[in-house]
Amino acid sequence: MHQKSIELLNKAIADELYAIHQYMYFHFHCDDQGFDLLANLFKKTAIAEMLHVERLAERILFLKGEVEMKVGSEVQKIHDVEKMLKLAAKMEEDSAKEYNEWANECSANADSNSRQLFEALVVEEETHFDQYDTELENLKKFGANYLALQSIERSKGRDSGSAG
Ligand SMILES: [Fe+2]
Ligand SMILES: [Fe+2]
Repeated sequence: MHQKSIELLNKAIADELYAIHQYMYFHFHCDDQGFDLLANLFKKTAIAEMLHVERLAERILFLKGEVEMKVGSEVQKIHDVEKMLKLAAKMEEDSAKEYNEWANECSANADSNSRQLFEALVVEEETHFDQYDTELENLKKFGANYLALQSIERSKGRDSGSAG
C-alpha cells in the first residue's frame, strides 16, 4: 500500500546501521587513546541511532513491509580525532537533509505517520550534529590541550578508583 514509504524507511535503516557501526568504531579508538569524553559521546550516539532503527522498523512492520537491515556503507577506518568528528558531523547533516526530503515525500504520498517519524528524527539528528560540531570547535580552539585534558581526567579517575 505504502510501497514508497517502506522503501524510504528501509533506506533510513541502512543509514542508521552504518552510523551505529561507524560511531562504535570511533568509540573503540577514542577509548583506546584515552579520550573518554569523545568515547562516551560516540557510544551514546550509536545507542540513540539503534533506537532510531527500532522506530523505523516498527513503522515498516505496521505498513506490512519487510525490514531489510542492510548496512548503508563500509566503516571508514579513521583514527584521527578531528577527522572522526568531521565525518560524524557530516553524516548527521546528510541524515537530517535526507529525512527532511523523505518527510516531504511521505506527505505527498498521504502517509502522515511516516512523515512525522522522519520529522522527529530530523530534530534528533540535528542535535547529534550540534554535539559533534561543538566538540570539533573545542578541538580547534584548544588543540592538543583539549585531548590531553581528557587523558588527564581518566588518570585522575583511576587514582580515585584505586584509593576507594
Ligand atoms: Fe539516527
Ligand atoms: Fe544521528
